[in-house]
Amino acid sequence: MKLAVIGTGYVGLVSGTSFAELGNTVVCVDKVEEKVEQLNRNEIPIYEPGLEELVKKNKDAGRLFFTTNIQEAVEQAEIVMIAVGTPETETGAANLNYVYAVAEEIGQSLTNSFTVIVNKSTVPVGTAEAVNEIIRKTYPQAEIDVCSVPEFLREGSAVHDTFHPDRVVIGTSSEKAADMLTELHRPLTDQIVVTDPRSSEMIKYASNAFLATKISFINEIANICDLYDADVHAVAQGMGLDHRIGPKFLHAGIGYGGSCFPKDVKALKFLAEDKGYQPNILQAVNDVNNIQSHKVVEHLDRIFDGDIQGRTIAVLGLAFKPNTDDMREAPSIKIIEELNQRGGHIRAFDPAAVENAKQMLDVDITYTDQALAAIDGADAALLVTEWKECVSITPEQFKQALKQPVVIDGRNALDKESLKQAGIIYHGIGRK
Ligand code: UDX
Repeated sequence: MKLAVIGTGYVGLVSGTSFAELGNTVVCVDKVEEKVEQLNRNEIPIYEPGLEELVKKNKDAGRLFFTTNIQEAVEQAEIVMIAVGTPETETGAANLNYVYAVAEEIGQSLTNSFTVIVNKSTVPVGTAEAVNEIIRKTYPQAEIDVCSVPEFLREGSAVHDTFHPDRVVIGTSSEKAADMLTELHRPLTDQIVVTDPRSSEMIKYASNAFLATKISFINEIANICDLYDADVHAVAQGMGLDHRIGPKFLHAGIGYGGSCFPKDVKALKFLAEDKGYQPNILQAVNDVNNIQSHKVVEHLDRIFDGDIQGRTIAVLGLAFKPNTDDMREAPSIKIIEELNQRGGHIRAFDPAAVENAKQMLDVDITYTDQALAAIDGADAALLVTEWKECVSITPEQFKQALKQPVVIDGRNALDKESLKQAGIIYHGIGRK
């Protein structure tokens, strides 16, 4: 099939490349000229394992193209995918300006042949209808069906997730579009759910909000474990063996970050409130997440009697999770800002996110190239992102390098017992 993908962010670039790998001809469009030039030189603007090779391979095979010319791409396409950003606004609502602007441009570029328009961006319920209206206003004779096919990929394993989805959700009110989109996705999975566009849009928000709820739930249990000397690690293991609960997303820590969970929970909350419904669970999920990053500072306060002034704190990991350079909504930001305000000196290590961190953090930080260099002579080490470079520091290395043997494990990813045996003062989140 012939595809045009508008927007070469995470979702657009990974899905466009993957559809090319499946044998389709894909033209990826971005309005940022520099980005398109970069991609045409096989330079990938994001850190995503496996993507560079796949882009190069499919470009060389003549199936994948990058351009700034939306008109040409749309004219030739049977399926046009919108994959532009829907950032958070001040109210928590998703900003749809980019989606609407693209819809208008699509309207100006369509020809008379039938085209399926797919919304891949995470958008409020009812957006497929709004996009349909905008296109028809611009080009009343348009032969189109606007559908919702949300993307569920995770950063850091985006390529793998695209080729091994748990399900594909197709939201459409037309049989013709459903058939074309089913044919396009069939090589990826048999689990294809076909529903109406509004339900499909809701599936995306509800899925992300549910996963965020699991995390905030186990974080709340961890906070209660702390008060009663129970170990949340054992609690999550015991709970997760119940098939109705499942073991995944029950990892307690300093809270969820990234470009999706924080924004999507707030956007769904806004949708509910906009219709006069108070979404108590979503509010609580957000509230728990907001306090969670402070837990590591509370542990430091307890150990140092509230005196952090002048102490060197090693921050191990900055990205919102390992295997990405993404700093969006990373808990490290709040932690570092709080420690800095309290007069602490920050020495930070991250194998990928330092450049992005420098742009987001207006704080005096000493960055190191090695995890061990960050802890050398520090008063305490804080594990903030569970990169393998950070979790592989041995208890002996911590003991030798730190000025004071204090390790705060914000991700519950270190071996509590062996650290304690090595004489280290260890605190996790809800770990006794
Ligand atoms: C998420 C969804 O998983 C994906 O389906 C969606 O399309 C986009 O949002 P992503 O943001 O890449 O993907 O990261 P994910 O691996 O889901 O982790 C999100 C955050 O939750 C991270 O900050 C992570 O550290 C945290 N997390 C995850 C926990 O704190 N505990 C857990 O048990 C799992």
